[in-house]
Amino acid sequence: MSLRLIANWKLNGSIKFIKSWSQLFLENFNGDNFNSIGIAPSSLHFSLTKDLLIEHGINIGVQSIDGEQFGARTGEISASMVKDLGGVFSIIGHSERRVLFQESVESISRKLAQANMNDIVPILCIGESFEENKANITQDVLEGQINDALKDHKDLSSLIIAYEPIWAIGTGKTPNPKDINSVHEMIKDVVQSRFPKTELESVIYGGSVNKSNALELFEQKDIDGALIGGASLDGKDFALIANIFNKLKV
Ligand code: PGA
Repeated sequence: MSLRLIANWKLNGSIKFIKSWSQLFLENFNGDNFNSIGIAPSSLHFSLTKDLLIEHGINIGVQSIDGEQFGARTGEISASMVKDLGGVFSIIGHSERRVLFQESVESISRKLAQANMNDIVPILCIGESFEENKANITQDVLEGQINDALKDHKDLSSLIIAYEPIWAIGTGKTPNPKDINSVHEMIKDVVQSRFPKTELESVIYGGSVNKSNALELFEQKDIDGALIGGASLDGKDFALIANIFNKLKV
């Protein structure tokens, strides 16, 4: 099974954290489909995380890449560097990048191109704000974000979309699982009908996923997996979520 359950460690981690996380995860995970799991540590901790977990078949990726291959771009990392070091995927266009780092739709599109060129699976994040949700314009917002990200690409050899309502990230609030399922159906429909040359592998959900709500989320047919922030920082909790995923999806 391809990548479905991704830990986004954001700006967290240390040598000690990663060693104890790996131990806790391996002690508590009872599946054998390690290849459906991905970890996105900080770029500094990429190699240590890989050294500890790659032998089990877990995929290691990054939280962001640059939209260019190389050049005078202080502080950035490229998709080709990720590939060179054995990385498999990159999160692209996370709402924190869009909001805190002013990531534009043009740069998100360039990042997708770089990922595609370098054989890195892009995890494209889309999601509506609380106000947009309340105004009942979620579908329009998501269609717009999909269109902006994909319109300049003739084809993409792989794509995972993470539906992450901004108001659900780190807040403990999640939409009703059935509503998430309908949104995922819509996303699959839009991508497949408008961008038939894009290989959409899965649509995963992100926003306050934890060991208590994972079951009802993964019971939904079109929720193919999850992108997990807060709850992924505990190796045991992440393993418990992965165990629930295994029961329902594998
Ligand atoms: P959260 O973060 O699980 O802490 O809500 C999800 C994300 O930002 O990808």
